[in-house]
Amino acid sequence: MNILITGGAGFIGSHVVRLFVDKYPQYHIINVDKLTYAGNLANLKDIENRSNYSFVKADICDIETIYALMEKEQVDGVIHLAAESHVDRSIKDPFTFARTNVMGTLSMLQAAKLYWEKLPEKFEGKRFYHISTDEVYGALELSHPEGIDSEMSAHKVYGDTFFTEDRKYQPHSPYSASKASSDHFVRAFHDTYGLPTIITNCSNNYGPYQFPEKLIPLFINNIRHRKPLPVYGKGENVRDWLYVVDHARAIDTIFHKGAISETYNIGGFNEWKNIDIIKVIIKTVDRLLGRPEGADLDLITYVTDRAGHDLRYAIDSRKLKNELGWEPSLQFEEGIELTVRWYLENEEWVENVTSGEYQRYYEDMYKDR
Ligand code: NAD
Ligand code: TYD
Repeated sequence: MNILITGGAGFIGSHVVRLFVDKYPQYHIINVDKLTYAGNLANLKDIENRSNYSFVKADICDIETIYALMEKEQVDGVIHLAAESHVDRSIKDPFTFARTNVMGTLSMLQAAKLYWEKLPEKFEGKRFYHISTDEVYGALELSHPEGIDSEMSAHKVYGDTFFTEDRKYQPHSPYSASKASSDHFVRAFHDTYGLPTIITNCSNNYGPYQFPEKLIPLFINNIRHRKPLPVYGKGENVRDWLYVVDHARAIDTIFHKGAISETYNIGGFNEWKNIDIIKVIIKTVDRLLGRPEGADLDLITYVTDRAGHDLRYAIDSRKLKNELGWEPSLQFEEGIELTVRWYLENEEWVENVTSGEYQRYYEDMYKDR
């Protein structure tokens, strides 16, 4: 199989590319990425010279380039992750999110449709897999502010309802609105043209290579440098956290075994209130840096809440578990320990991605490709 993965230089995409390149030497993996501020080829240094891997710098909105690439590489499968992904940026600049997430996804769909349609076998054996987010469903109520025990979460749960695959779409942020719109286009391409599509909606990911503007890597870095930790509102919002490698494993399972036209929710069975997770991160960083435990709790700084801040996300991923046998492999405590260690041991990576140096370096390196 020749598989085109978009956004492979980003956080989740780099883990998916690595898993596929390592696990399937018989496949050719083509990573297409525009290398925005969030895309970084240093995330893939360990596999960049593998014979079953190639990188192409391109914009997913450039339908002609994408179509030509699909034709040249005889692409059988698409795993589409490229997107603008940060809610706070979407509040400042919604247009970029509509362009990449909506128009970019539409370009990918149209290019795949036009290319596959002209093959003798048409859509037979082909697959267009769109990676989306649980944020399209909007927010859940927080009816148990202190949390209660439940089989739905390895930690506690904070409400009685969970996102199932048939839940109504109710996005609140420009980011989630753009992802919801892209999901609708993917379904429309299946229902109208018969394109073989699959969609998954996943909860918050954490782990190595996440850009340090998102909660967990930002806070690890700030604690290390003893900078304030900006907690939005009261820190009461709840997120369901999944270790990124487990998301990549789920994508592998669903790409190979998922049923065409289906949607699968992917979650960690792992709800946490922001303020609680922040305290765990502070304790872990302090312990690993040899500081007295909790020494940095005073860095917590409550700031003005995010506009339209969704109160609670919690995924019901029992469909994926029951039908395809996927479950998270890591307990949250192990995942957080691995993650904090990774950021503390890779300070150079953090400095490079935040300084912008890496972008100039790689743009020079790839400008003639
Ligand atoms: P990211 O921001 O770390 O990476 C996005 C990648 O897409 C970058 O490499 C960037 O260069 C590339 N890209 C952006 N615009 C592009 C364009 N126009 N053309 C080509 N490439 C472009 O994002 P992430 O956190 O890895 O998320 C990946 C996907 O997973 C997104 O679709 C996101 O909506 C979804 N998702 C993320 C999470 C999460 O917690 N991070 C959870 C659920 C779903
Ligand atoms: P984030 O990592 O941006 O993911 P998302 O908004 O997609 O869930 O934020 C996770 C949670 O942490 C969210 O409730 C917002 C909150 N948050 C803060 O309190 N302070 C911060 O500086 C950031 C980036 C996030």
